[in-house]
Amino acid sequence: MSLTIAVPKGRLFEQTLDLFEKAGLITEKIDTNTRKLIISGNDYNFLMVRAKDVPVYVNQAVADIGIAGDDVLLEIDFDLYKPVDLGIGYCNIVVAGKPESRDLYFSNPSTLKIATKYPKIAHKFFSEKGIKIQIFELYGSVELAPLVEMADFIVDIVETGRTLKENGLVVIDNIRPSTAKLIVNRVSYKTKRKEILNLIEKLENYLEALYD
Ligand code: PRP
Repeated sequence: MSLTIAVPKGRLFEQTLDLFEKAGLITEKIDTNTRKLIISGNDYNFLMVRAKDVPVYVNQAVADIGIAGDDVLLEIDFDLYKPVDLGIGYCNIVVAGKPESRDLYFSNPSTLKIATKYPKIAHKFFSEKGIKIQIFELYGSVELAPLVEMADFIVDIVETGRTLKENGLVVIDNIRPSTAKLIVNRVSYKTKRKEILNLIEKLENYLEALYD
């Protein structure tokens, strides 16, 4: 029985294929230079989705498995099994803003305006600090919000730091690192147990050897 895997389009898909190849899960060459949304291999069908949509497809059991970062998983309430930290898709979840806003941040403000794609992460982080926030939930290009003075700061992921740098923004505070996890639908875990256990075992064996 083949497994259906929801993966974010782009870099994380390429990292996933690389990991699957190294772990001996796929041997055939899969063409990533395509606009196709369903990419079929011998043992796996990949569904190409937006990162935030991965848990939705897994929760609906349309995909047996998904690849999702902590940034995405901390925003959802679904009960998904997360057996493996894949160690790919590494980034940091941070508070960022204009360099001149640093004083405001460290002056014990009572309220801050925060633009983000991650409202739950932002709420939790600032409520633990006792700071009230007004959230502007955006879907992308979050770095624009402080530049046009819509928000004091952003809560966002930083991978290479290039987007912040090119927009004159800096990291003001670190929230947490994020890596990609394997997520599994709990029904699929029972009905396709053999295939899923084989996948988990091969990934774990490869990752253990890597970190030894
Ligand atoms: C993400 C994130 C930052 C950028 C960080 O956005 O929200 O904007 O990547 O990466 P960097 O540190 O390597 O520059 P994404 O590329 O997903 O685009 P979006 O703004 O459309 O969400």
